[in-house]
Amino acid sequence: MSADKSTSWSYTEALPVEDLVLRRARERSHELGLFPVSPGVAAALTVLAAASKAQTAVEVGTGAGVSGVSILRGLGPRAVLTTIDPDVDHLKAAREAFSESGSPANRTRTISGRAQDVLPRLTDGAYDLVFIDADKPSFPEYVEQAVRLLKQGGLLIINDALDKDRVSDPAIREAGTATLRRVGRMIRDNEALTSTILPTGDGLLLAVKR
Ligand SMILES: C[S@@+](CC[C@H](N)C(=O)[O-])C[C@H]1O[C@@H](n2cnc3c(N)ncnc32)[C@H](O)[C@@H]1O
Repeated sequence: MSADKSTSWSYTEALPVEDLVLRRARERSHELGLFPVSPGVAAALTVLAAASKAQTAVEVGTGAGVSGVSILRGLGPRAVLTTIDPDVDHLKAAREAFSESGSPANRTRTISGRAQDVLPRLTDGAYDLVFIDADKPSFPEYVEQAVRLLKQGGLLIINDALDKDRVSDPAIREAGTATLRRVGRMIRDNEALTSTILPTGDGLLLAVKR
């Protein structure tokens, strides 16, 4: 096996062909100074949402809607995505992307607020999929909330789980990287979850609630 996986990684990130809706959402993300999910992660989100047959999904960190459009494209026609972001300009850009994607307005519930305040108000065991892509210092708290929110068999997805290859380097002890290591162990050791990390994008951590 070749030790250097970077060419395979580049290949898989370059393989998805994104349509105008996602390209425009990426442009708006960059104009707003945001870092949307990579093309490989966007494609993975669509596949995972479709494979999970989710009817109810929650997203932490709407941004300008690249990940939201990708999740919506995998969900069934009656499924609803609840997406949370405290920044009204980001939510406005995301609503444009959802509308351009042809998704009916009643399939997205955009909530303006911080996930720490909003997640505790959502119903226990009511969601099939939770995607976390915001505010890394609070990931441990969001994981606890996600476990509470997920139905049995529900899927938790965490973006940037490898923190640009920093998580695997024990010499890096910076707080954000240490938090992601802690989250990886916390999920691995949680008997209610079965988990793995895909080396897509900056690492996509997947966990299913047993
Ligand atoms: C990396 S961007 C999300 C990108 C988006 N998932 C995508 O792929 O298009 C992070 C987003 O998280 C939002 N955010 C920051 N703190 C937050 C918090 N406490 N709760 C929820 N969202 C937060 C930011 O406003 C920003 O829009």
